[in-house]
Amino acid sequence: MIKYIGSKRTLVPRIVELARAVCPRVEGKRGIATACDIFAGTTRVSQGLKNAGFHVTANDAATYSEVLATAYVETDARRVRKREIARKIAHLNALRGRDGYVTRTFCEEARYFQPANGRRIDAMRDEIDAIADDRIDRAILLTALLEAADRVDSTTGLQMAYLKAWAPRSFNSIELRTPALIPGRGASSRMDANAFARSMAEVDVAYLDPPYNQHSYHSNYHIWETIVRHDSPEAYGVARKRSDCRAIKSAYNSRGRAWEAFSELIHTVRARNVIVSFSDEGFFARDDIAALLRDARGEVATIPVASRRYVGARIGIYNPSGDKVGRVSHVTNHEFIFVAGPGALVAGRAASAA
Ligand SMILES: C[S@@+](CC[C@H](N)C(=O)[O-])C[C@H]1O[C@@H](n2cnc3c(N)ncnc32)[C@H](O)[C@@H]1O
Repeated sequence: MIKYIGSKRTLVPRIVELARAVCPRVEGKRGIATACDIFAGTTRVSQGLKNAGFHVTANDAATYSEVLATAYVETDARRVRKREIARKIAHLNALRGRDGYVTRTFCEEARYFQPANGRRIDAMRDEIDAIADDRIDRAILLTALLEAADRVDSTTGLQMAYLKAWAPRSFNSIELRTPALIPGRGASSRMDANAFARSMAEVDVAYLDPPYNQHSYHSNYHIWETIVRHDSPEAYGVARKRSDCRAIKSAYNSRGRAWEAFSELIHTVRARNVIVSFSDEGFFARDDIAALLRDARGEVATIPVASRRYVGARIGIYNPSGDKVGRVSHVTNHEFIFVAGPGALVAGRAASAA
């Protein structure tokens, strides 16, 4: 899975456990339990819910996230011709590199990948469109390419900048692997979260993990967006971002607009229960979220899930000459999961005790 800021990799078991607790149907006694993950990102939470037996719809505004959702959530691993996929991946791995947009923009004008890997990414990306039989096939091959590119990049996990000195992993030769697809059915979608909530079919559980500050995912992961779209956009700045990064702004990245968008979402989303991830480093206050959920959804439980001390707080802040400067504003950040709707208090108590 790709490196992704705000990914809930370590929280997936807690979120899935809460979803199961508020949704007894997941045991299969009364039909299939349904869930949606409205800011799906890497789709890790969607994958956890799918593995637990939910029929999941994974939605996100990002094109790369839709590709991951198509591969991991929509695709039923039992229906995939695995030998055919393995054959195509071997074929892509055997291709000779060729100069193209990725080599020029991300390896020569910037240093996100070693040029030899950039040339192979260019060759593989062109070939995927030529050999994919349908959108499922294309999503599986693109997922393999994104994950392989992520293993040889030279960043800290954000594409706002690349490292001054090449990351050791960037010297490895890029190699695609078959993604670990999951059995079962699901759906993928690429919509604005609020538009999705207005048009969705009712589900048992909706999981909401919106961005929590001004940093745009479209800018932070512009390379994944460009590799998937394959549209050779005009690039700007040292980071060689897509020119549309200047125009594409999520309401959730705006201090002035985020609360209104989130309130509307909470009131509109068609789900019996809602689970929300929250960090106290963001635009929203914990008490405001709890009050909003109580008002819109009734029962609310708040489960503390992580509390981290900043590295900067432990070691202090230094200027380039090595002198200690400035003061650390706060030393820890706290993360919570809210669960709201019928049965939330019982589920929350059980999760807090665990
Ligand atoms: C905190 S991340 C979600 C991480 C995800 N839970 C995971 O574990 O990978 C927030 C996501 O919201 C998406 N996003 C931002 N604004 C959006 C909007 N208006 N509608 C839909 N998705 C949006 C971003 O592309 C990003 O993937």
